[in-house]
Amino acid sequence: PEIGCLSIVVLGASGDLAKKKTFPALFNLYRQGFLQSHEVYIFGYARTKISDEELRERIRGYLVPSKNTVKGHEEDLTNFLQLIKYVCGSYDTEEGYQLLDKEISAHEIYRNSTEGSSRRLFYLALPPSVYPPVCKMIKKCCMNKSDLGGWTRIVVEKPFGRDLESAEQLSNQIGELFEEPQIYRIDHYLGKELVQNLLVLRFANRFFMPLWNRDNIDNIQIVFREDFGTDGRGGYFDQYGIIRDIIQNHLLQVLCLVAMEKPVSLKPEHIRDEKVKVLQSVVPIKDEEVVLGQYEGYLEDPTVPDGSYTPTFATMVLRLHNERWEGVPFILKAGKALNSRKAEIRVQFKDVPGDIFKSNKQGRNEFVIRLQPSEAMYMKLTVKQPGLKMSTVQSEMDLSYGQRYQEVTIPEAYERLILDTIRGDQQHFVRRDELKAAWEIFTPLLHRIDRGEFKSIPYKQGSRGPAEADKLLEKAGYVQTHGYIWIPPTL
Ligand code: BG6
Repeated sequence: PEIGCLSIVVLGASGDLAKKKTFPALFNLYRQGFLQSHEVYIFGYARTKISDEELRERIRGYLVPSKNTVKGHEEDLTNFLQLIKYVCGSYDTEEGYQLLDKEISAHEIYRNSTEGSSRRLFYLALPPSVYPPVCKMIKKCCMNKSDLGGWTRIVVEKPFGRDLESAEQLSNQIGELFEEPQIYRIDHYLGKELVQNLLVLRFANRFFMPLWNRDNIDNIQIVFREDFGTDGRGGYFDQYGIIRDIIQNHLLQVLCLVAMEKPVSLKPEHIRDEKVKVLQSVVPIKDEEVVLGQYEGYLEDPTVPDGSYTPTFATMVLRLHNERWEGVPFILKAGKALNSRKAEIRVQFKDVPGDIFKSNKQGRNEFVIRLQPSEAMYMKLTVKQPGLKMSTVQSEMDLSYGQRYQEVTIPEAYERLILDTIRGDQQHFVRRDELKAAWEIFTPLLHRIDRGEFKSIPYKQGSRGPAEADKLLEKAGYVQTHGYIWIPPTL
């Protein structure tokens, strides 16, 4: 039953991910009434010897109100922090976990003196190298008490390995201990409002049905840009690089949702079945359809090893061998230290045949889904220039969320995803076979980069990235609109 005691254990409680994402997400869920004081207990677990109060103080500063939640913030914060207990222990020996189990159980027995269940969620805000020992210890010492019913689930986040082999090894290690329905692999892009909207957009609108294919679409771009560099995360980043950090997971997940066929139903397995098919239809990436870059100054970061080849920018073309998409390039582009921060999907349609207005020269129809910031969907289209003259001009139909949904606070990705883990909904999580297929696509290229066989082109911080990337875009068929730019509406 979905009632009774719920214990949420955040392992790595004083780390960055926990402080910046996990606890704030839990707090927001609490504020919205999804975590009821009388049934939820939150445990922080880490190696540092600190008290409950010290942990609470460490995370307090990260729990800030949004513009709509200022009222009652302080009171909620105090109550929320009271739900958090700290348990100190190492990650690979039993003692700490036995203590943790004792704490959870004491609470469960107390709560369940009348009825209920033992629901245990373990959030591993830890480096993946310790996933196997941690999972082993959880399995050994901390599983839900079967006489009370309930469940045990674990939440993990990338990087899941560095290539196909290491990812499979990790999957095997975890898979020996937990069943797939117990494992929640987070890709936080799947928790973003406009990513979640993709399914609705595509399959609940007649508009798109006849257009969403190779007959009408010329090319699709999925773009991630950040206007800052590694910012002290160089040590982590350098081991992975932009392809493993952003493209292999976040952008590829978005690609799946853009390209997949309609699932049989909204059941998580039906959706994930379709995503896997997309991944399996990706053909090997060609060297000439990849441009890598590294921003100038990256090597000056003290946490980055001298002479590192790691790319901080990549543009590449993925091609799908299937009936809907044969011949349509999917251009994935991601970069750090660029001239802007945004993530968007840009679907560019083919030219109008037999064009009598010469409008093709001005620009093509484009449908843009802007994931962030300023969430929006807009359709760039040609209209008659208002006035007496018969001339055409580029304009747009615009659904900007900030304007259209002024009263709504768009939930953070982590908030939504954690709620899903509690509810047991795996739709927005990466299944094991999906992960494997994703690694199969990129591993050959990544190995060549690691061996230093594929060099990154230097680019200036705050630029568009290497000029070669724009050339690749053009070669792939993307036509830039000239003299027109969409500006998010201001309120
Ligand atoms: C993370 C990457 O997964 O996503 C970071 O490791 C990146 O390098 C971040 O900055 C971007 O997330 P968002 O939600 O800010 O687009």
